[in-house]
Amino acid sequence: MKRKEFKVVFEPSGRSVYVLPGTVLLEVAARAGYILQTPCGGGGTCGKCRVRVTGGSCPATQSCAKILGEARVRDGWRLACQARVQGDAVVEIPAASLFESRQIILSDSAGGELEVLPAVRKQFLDLSAPAQDDALSDVERLRAVIGPFKIGIDLVRELPARLRKAGFKGTAVLADDELVDFEAGDTTAFSRGVAFDIGTTTLVGVLVDLKTGLDLAVDARMNPQTSLGDDVIARIRKCREEPRGLIHLQRAVLAAINEMIGELLRQARVEAGSIYEVVFAGNTAMQQILCGVDPSALGELPFVPAFNDALALKASDLDLDTHPNAKVYVFPQVGGFVGGDTVAGVVATRMDEAESPAMLVDIGTNGEIVLFDGKEMLGTSVAAGPAFEGARISCGMRAAAGAIDKVVINESLRINVIGNARPSGLCGSGLVDAVAELLRVGVIDETGRILEPSEFPDGVPASVAKRVVRRDEHCHFVLAHASESATGEPLLLFQRDVRELQLATAAIRAGANILLKMRGLEAGDLKTIFIAGGFGNFIRRNNALRIGLLPPVPCRRIRFVGNTCVFGAKRALLSVSEKRYAESIVRRVEHVDLSLSPDFQMEFGSAMTFPNHDGGDCDAAPDDAVPDPRG
Ligand code: FES
Repeated sequence: MKRKEFKVVFEPSGRSVYVLPGTVLLEVAARAGYILQTPCGGGGTCGKCRVRVTGGSCPATQSCAKILGEARVRDGWRLACQARVQGDAVVEIPAASLFESRQIILSDSAGGELEVLPAVRKQFLDLSAPAQDDALSDVERLRAVIGPFKIGIDLVRELPARLRKAGFKGTAVLADDELVDFEAGDTTAFSRGVAFDIGTTTLVGVLVDLKTGLDLAVDARMNPQTSLGDDVIARIRKCREEPRGLIHLQRAVLAAINEMIGELLRQARVEAGSIYEVVFAGNTAMQQILCGVDPSALGELPFVPAFNDALALKASDLDLDTHPNAKVYVFPQVGGFVGGDTVAGVVATRMDEAESPAMLVDIGTNGEIVLFDGKEMLGTSVAAGPAFEGARISCGMRAAAGAIDKVVINESLRINVIGNARPSGLCGSGLVDAVAELLRVGVIDETGRILEPSEFPDGVPASVAKRVVRRDEHCHFVLAHASESATGEPLLLFQRDVRELQLATAAIRAGANILLKMRGLEAGDLKTIFIAGGFGNFIRRNNALRIGLLPPVPCRRIRFVGNTCVFGAKRALLSVSEKRYAESIVRRVEHVDLSLSPDFQMEFGSAMTFPNHDGGDCDAAPDDAVPDPRG
């Protein structure tokens, strides 16, 4: 019996994923949560995406040999953008190949692009005890050794007992210019922080070792505010109209954040007291609600946020389950709904250093778009709705075990399910794939209508045609029959799901078009498009182009960069200069309010039509030619 999927294990983490035969390694890595460097857009020419296959089957291509050399290829090295999985495999990813490594790796071998110099630092002190001829106060005794610092009253109250109990030997913990704690003994080896992406639909947290810059644990879950309003506007309305609306929303998100911190600590087996800093990035409404700042003014013209500069709080201000004196940094925000998540995206991608004109498209419930024309940046935000995160879709779900995250149609329909489980729903990348593939083969037309089988063009495979069913007024598509699904119910792509995707796609595309127009640019002028978003682990570029999610450019100019919100937050956590860079971005991005654009409705209306453009030279295109493993 032929196997449906191959298992690929990544070392040294041991993380594994199951993928369809012929899946390119770049995509396999992304599905496992590793975003690789792709400066040449997956064209097989830069060599930056190299990985080492230490076991199993993943044959080298000609470009692998040309770029890496025969000797390295014999040693297992491959270009991840070129080599395809042909059997179970074990793969090592060197730090230098990770997109994230630009953010977290400190050594010169990784490019030395980020000095790990966090706000938190520790110093072991062996102080002399007070004596008659040395009667400095406790605070001055510390300052005499470590220099000037601020100190809060809580720590002043505890310091005398702590110093004496520790025999005046201990570790001073400083964050920026404040003494956060004095710990008995030498604890300099332990220093942690957490970076959070506060998404409208999804929360992501990463526990980071502030000494090494390495991730210790990751957790993601639905933002529980979703049950109180599934988009930003509904939540702002709740704050405006209900006396305790803001408190309810703030408590909901803070409770989830504390649960996530607990989970991160459990995963890494470390103590809450070793977390000295937390960094948050999210859109303006999410950041304000998190901080208990009324976002009502964001719900009416001219959509004014309460603050632009970064906020510095203490963990106790938000009741976070960390060290009680831990610092909290909330990202600076540009204006309107262009908030900390957009700034974090620019920090993560360094788009102002990329080949320009460059565009960053962060796909989420709120879609943010930034255009860099070589000199200046324009930023805007569109309400895409939660379709990309699986919400408002009949069988939608987050990109978690059981989610269909990839759909390929050849002679038959093939799906990839996260966790190699039976399918229980469809996540954002699976939705994009499903609609794009049905559009390609002709089951869906450019208007987004699922056609009757009698209207199909020639060439629609019979096994695919059989999956179209009529219910009520419309046709729907069966992604998994009841006997195949985890729930025992069929998983259907309804006509209204396609409409949700069209609305989300059109909003993003219209926003992108308006920014281009404002700078007198055409889509083809764009040299780089960064696609960001935590809506799924990977989105196939040709499919994003086919449904018109992105301006039509050759595929290799598109770079998938994963969740830049959390990457940017992590950079700020690890380096004070990254915080200063984030703060400078706010002053450089001109906010574009699309509600003032006379063109928006027209652009939106024309973007509702699927262009069926595939980007031509896309590296993912050969997936269409993958042999059907069901034979
Ligand atoms: S060789 Fe450039 S991304 Fe693979």
